[in-house]
Amino acid sequence: MKTEIKKINFFSLRKAKKILLSGGLIGMPTETVYGLGADGTNSSAVKEIFNVKGRPTDNPLIAHVHKDFDIESLVEIETPYVKDLIKAFMPGPLTLVLKSKGVVTEEAVCGGQTLAIRMPAHKGCQKLLKLVNKPIVAPSANLSKHTSPVTAEHVKNDLDGKISLILDGGKCLGGIESTVLDVTSSVPRILRAGLITKEMIEKVVGACEIAQHKEGDKVKSPGVKYRHYRPKCDAVLFKEEEIDKAIEFYNAKLAENKKPYVMCASYLKDNFQGKNLLLLGETDREIASNLYSKLLEGEKIADVIIAIAMPSEEGIFLGISNRLNKSCG
Ligand code: TXA
Ligand code: MG
Repeated sequence: MKTEIKKINFFSLRKAKKILLSGGLIGMPTETVYGLGADGTNSSAVKEIFNVKGRPTDNPLIAHVHKDFDIESLVEIETPYVKDLIKAFMPGPLTLVLKSKGVVTEEAVCGGQTLAIRMPAHKGCQKLLKLVNKPIVAPSANLSKHTSPVTAEHVKNDLDGKISLILDGGKCLGGIESTVLDVTSSVPRILRAGLITKEMIEKVVGACEIAQHKEGDKVKSPGVKYRHYRPKCDAVLFKEEEIDKAIEFYNAKLAENKKPYVMCASYLKDNFQGKNLLLLGETDREIASNLYSKLLEGEKIADVIIAIAMPSEEGIFLGISNRLNKSCG
């Protein structure tokens, strides 16, 4: 199968619709990362997502809908604060886990009772979802375990020959996946941290918990237990207070004739003068936005990425730190 990348326009959107409605898969942009979309009501299309990605079959998918879609046709909203969250953050990088009504096929929810719902803010993606007017299930459009894609080219690098169309909506600005929030109980719980932070959610609903995923736990969001986001080269993580150790490690790699790169926030760059650098930017948002593209750039040019951890685990840094720990830890 030939894989085409097409800019989003009248024609490519109609082509995408045709593929989706006939049970095929497409690459599609969102404001967080690119997704691998399929009709969420079509079992065989959904199964194909797991095949193409090599995704474990106990890891459920997120259903993506347009901003005027009647969410209550897919899930039950029993907890009163959910509507406030929808009003505050949707469309946007927030995914809500709710009780499923079974319209989205059981293959997508891996036989579970809940369905994760998200309304992407990306304009081109909204156009596609509106045109198709169905729940489109979409995991990140990478091979399982690899770094998530933030450009159409990144998708092609992983899925070339496996899907026929990738809609090109430019580089994803968010850069890390949506916040996954379990809203089936009286207090919402963050299952995966992202750009919509605990603090932002608390402003709307009062309280919000962060799920602690410990080894051996029966996890609520299976995706978090897998190795994830790994670049193809070696990658190691040092704390900010271990910069000396990181430099020692860098020099040792050079001595082995290896090509090391330091990946860090831009404000740390003076510590690494004369060294190969992958700079992530100054602010939490910039760093989130650049993280995956720098990992994917790094895997092409480096033998080993030496990442420096974030200064805190507050706000957006929590989501960034979770990804750094998995990709480089
Ligand atoms: O930003 C995003 O969320 C991107 C874009 C493409 O929308 N999608 C994405 O999908 O990151 P994926 O499949 O790579 O990650 C989905 C996460 C996984 O950790 C999965 O376990 C969790 O959401 N999840 C999905 N359905 C769930 C459910 N019913 N209950 C609990 N966790 C769920
Ligand atoms: Mg993913």
